[in-house]
Parts: sequence; structure tokens; C-alpha cells
Amino acid sequence: MVIIIGNQKGGAGKSTLTLLLANYLVQVKKRKVTVIDMDYQQSIAQKFEKAKLLENPEPYEVIAASLDDYPAMEDLLYNSGEQVVLIDLPGKLDDDGLIPVFRSANLVICPFSYDEFSFNSTILFSVVLRKINPEVMLTYVPNRIKANVRYETQLEVDEQLQKLGSVTPVLPDRIDFQRTNTFQTPLSLIPAIRPVFEIIYQNHIAKPATP
Ligand SMILES: Nc1ncnc2c1ncn2[C@@H]1O[C@H](COP(=O)(O)OP(=O)(O)O)[C@@H](O)[C@H]1O
Ligand SMILES: [Mg+2]
Repeated sequence: MVIIIGNQKGGAGKSTLTLLLANYLVQVKKRKVTVIDMDYQQSIAQKFEKAKLLENPEPYEVIAASLDDYPAMEDLLYNSGEQVVLIDLPGKLDDDGLIPVFRSANLVICPFSYDEFSFNSTILFSVVLRKINPEVMLTYVPNRIKANVRYETQLEVDEQLQKLGSVTPVLPDRIDFQRTNTFQTPLSLIPAIRPVFEIIYQNHIAKPATP
């Protein structure tokens, strides 16, 4: 299946979430994963090359690609079968190259935070996505939530987003997120990320048991 991690807002946590989910699927769920890094900064691809240089084992392949490369890759992805293809998208919406990517997605994961600017870009992203792929499963992940802050708009925002998709439990704002790389997730993060990834996995990724 094809999962895209998107939101037009930079810094929402797309690349971080892509890495964490890739690690989780491989290490916990024993799934075969390929990551396609379409972010301009290619932060995941860079981490991957660095990990390779240090001779760490490669738990999955990371392919650096641009939106223009996608149509040529699409057919292969359709036949990905049991494999999970994760696509880290660039933070923009004004590129026709996104259309085939949006169209081929089975699931879209959208990290966001509870500030007004993030909400607006999250809604805009969702509207464009739905227009191109009305059937796609969509799930929102509140990210970088600070323990000591009361988010006045949280209930209201969740209510609006639930009209478009599902909203997972929140991911806290913690420094150890910044140590995530392509061969491991910091152990200290597991209790924080597990509830989020379990819900996403059970609801959207796990194959229903065949009778
Ligand atoms: N929950 C979190 N807690 C702390 N830092 C985070 C968290 N999520 C992301 N970050 C950091 O925020 C920055 C932006 O995240 P990133 O995943 O690169 O966003 P995007 O890919 O959407 O631009 C990175 O330095 C990342 O390590
Ligand atoms: Mg990124």
C-alpha cells in the first residue's frame, strides 16, 4: 500500500513521522517498507546515507526522488503488494506533480499542531487532497504538544478535522524526537509514539485476517 505523509506546513513533523513510522513498521510489525523521500531538503535520504556510511544495517530502502519522477515509479508501487511504501512529501501545494501522488495514495497521514496558522494550512491541504482523491483514508496526528500548555482551540479543531478524517492521540514536544534516524527510534520515545502508531496500524494498515 502507499501511504503519504503530508501537510503543506513546513516543520509540522512530516519527515520525523515518516521515519518513526518506517521504523515502527519494520521493527515492531515486521513489515517490508520502502521510503520515498520527496522533500526538497531530503532530510531522510541524508540520514540514510549517513547511517550507511557508519555501516549500520539498512532496515529499509530510502529512495530520494522528485515529484517529476513519480509517474515513472507509480506502476511499480501499485504492485507493491504486502510492502508498505511511505512517501515524505514536500511542504507545498502549488505543484501539479502532486496530483498523481495524491491519486495513488491509500492512506494520508497529516501531522499538525493546534495553532491557527497550522489549522488553516491543514484544512487547505485536506481540501486539495480530497478533491483529487475523494476516497483516500485520512488521519491527523497532533504533533509537538507541550505538556504545560492549554490549547484553547483543541476541541474545536478536532471537531472540524473529524469531519474530514480521524484524529489520533497526540505526540508530545520532546527533544528525543530530534534523534530519530533511519536505523533506530530512541527507546525513550516508544511509550509516547506507540498509542498513535497502534491506532493507525490497526485502523488503516493491518490486513484484515483472511478466513
Ligand atoms: N514531537 C516533536 N518534538 C520535538 N521536536 C520535533 C517533534 N516533531 C518534529 N520535531 C522537530 O521539528 C523539526 C521539524 O520537523 P520535520 O519532521 O523536519 O518537519 P517537516 O518535515 O514537516 O518540515 C525537526 O527538527 C524535528 O526534529
Ligand atoms: Mg520534511
